[in-house]
Amino acid sequence: MAKHAAKEVTETMMDENQVNSQTSSSADAQSSDAHVMEIGTAASKEKGKKSVITSIDDLPGIGPSIAAKLRDAGYDKLETLAYCMPSELQEISGVGEGSAVKVINAARDALEMGFETGADVLERRKLIEKITTGSLELDNLIGGGIETQAITEIFGKFGSGKSQIGFQLCVNAQLPKEQGGLGGSIAFIDTESTFRPERISQMAEAKGLDPAVVLGNIHVAKALNSNHQMLLAEKLEPMIREKNIRAIVVDSLTAAFRADYVGRGELAERQQKLNQHIHLLLRYADQYNLAVYVTNQVMDKPDILFGDPTIPIGGHVLAHTSTYRLYVRRSKEDRRIVKLVDSPNLPDGEVVFRVTPEGIMD
Ligand SMILES: Nc1ncnc2c1ncn2[C@@H]1O[C@H](COP(=O)(O)OP(=O)(O)OP(=O)(O)O)[C@@H](O)[C@H]1O
Ligand SMILES: [Mg+2]
Repeated sequence: MAKHAAKEVTETMMDENQVNSQTSSSADAQSSDAHVMEIGTAASKEKGKKSVITSIDDLPGIGPSIAAKLRDAGYDKLETLAYCMPSELQEISGVGEGSAVKVINAARDALEMGFETGADVLERRKLIEKITTGSLELDNLIGGGIETQAITEIFGKFGSGKSQIGFQLCVNAQLPKEQGGLGGSIAFIDTESTFRPERISQMAEAKGLDPAVVLGNIHVAKALNSNHQMLLAEKLEPMIREKNIRAIVVDSLTAAFRADYVGRGELAERQQKLNQHIHLLLRYADQYNLAVYVTNQVMDKPDILFGDPTIPIGGHVLAHTSTYRLYVRRSKEDRRIVKLVDSPNLPDGEVVFRVTPEGIMD
């Protein structure tokens, strides 16, 4: 048991070291630009080209054979290229590093992922809305509720309430604004087959809502593995527009990646994929002013003698990209203790909420 756990810790450290050393500059750029969108440089002077680039074939340096290779590998959209690492692109298409960087920058440029002024950012941030969790204490801890234009990550052991909060958001996001909702529908990516419509019905009824209507506004997809999970996220965009999706729940964000990339040699790849996936979610959050709530598992760190030995999986990629990180653990009876681990603008703190038959409450 201890041996197993020790191996897992080595694994996270590997995550971070490998990814940092192998792809240092672009990995850093990707994670630290979570709020101010990506910086496109190379092609930004050629403004006229912006409107022309609508597919990967239009990118400079991509001929038909490279385009075909990219399509085969599933890199068929500007968005996918914009969020990928130069090393990833080199591997798939066989282009040199310089060309890979150019292609990625051109894709970022085409999507207008360049600089904007602080005033623009402030203007966009004024549009942020919040979904109540059902617990005022928890809402206050995170500045009023689960925010749009952000990724809220929760990690904790099994049974701690991560999925329960996800279900509650499925109900609450549908409420009108004055009741703490966004008046929209929800996309739910279920990677562990733990989506329970019956439980959501129970929560909806407790609020006097028609469960059939509530469930009708939740668009659920079961992910078979990490690749499928990424694909589902990539396919979400038209639905976001058509169905007025205001919240995306990914439960669990990391489990499939963890299961699919087990060997040490695969860790850098896993982190790259996870990075790509989470940055896509972040783009949706920004571009469509929606909330993203993701769950994450924990593992034990055996060398900690005092204090809580539980740490989230996912390494630096996730730590840097999540806007709000919450750590939840069980307390007595139906109570849960939740801690805000790090946030760009709020103090760390800890509060108690409850998971009751009616849902999440104080
Ligand atoms: N109908 C209900 N009424 C009251 N409490 C419930 C109900 N359904 C679930 N719970 C509580 O929620 C707990 C399960 O929490 P949840 O499914 O959110 O765990 P989780 O953090 O997602 O765990 P995992 O990592 O295994 O996915 C149960 O152990 C129970 O305490
Ligand atoms: Mg769960």
